[in-house]
Amino acid sequence: MKILVLHGPNLNLLGTREPGVYGRVTLAEIDRMLREHARRRHDSVECRQSNHEGQLVDWLQAAQREGFAGVVFNPGAFTHYSIALRDAVAAIKVPLVEVHLSNVHAREEFRRHSVIAAVARGQISGFGPRSYLLGLDALTAESRRPTRRR
Ligand code: DQA
Repeated sequence: MKILVLHGPNLNLLGTREPGVYGRVTLAEIDRMLREHARRRHDSVECRQSNHEGQLVDWLQAAQREGFAGVVFNPGAFTHYSIALRDAVAAIKVPLVEVHLSNVHAREEFRRHSVIAAVARGQISGFGPRSYLLGLDALTAESRRPTRRR
């Protein structure tokens, strides 16, 4: 199974960005963990990061055409207000899991609402870099389910 991992805005700064909230692990290290985790399961991942909403929309739209069986998506701050990303997720058939490093429900009020969650297969939040690994595992488990919800 080939999985696409998308990181949204400011996640390129992981390691130095608000370490009290996001820890000291860099994005390159997270991507390495993901590739290793997938390899052990005979899957593969491709990791991409963008600070630009339109780029993320383009990658979501192309996911199926590019042969991805699922998407693990951390939309960053776009989570809370990007209708364009919400509509892109709703438009595609590829299953998608929303992930967050921090527990968005335990932070500021404006982070408690995700416009993506309702159109994602599910949401994983609060486990640091492990959120991404759990997202991968969720997609693998979903692909083995005989019936799909969306
Ligand atoms: C985040 C949570 C968002 O609220 C924030 O804007 C981010 C990171 C997380 O992974 O915890 O950029 O998506």
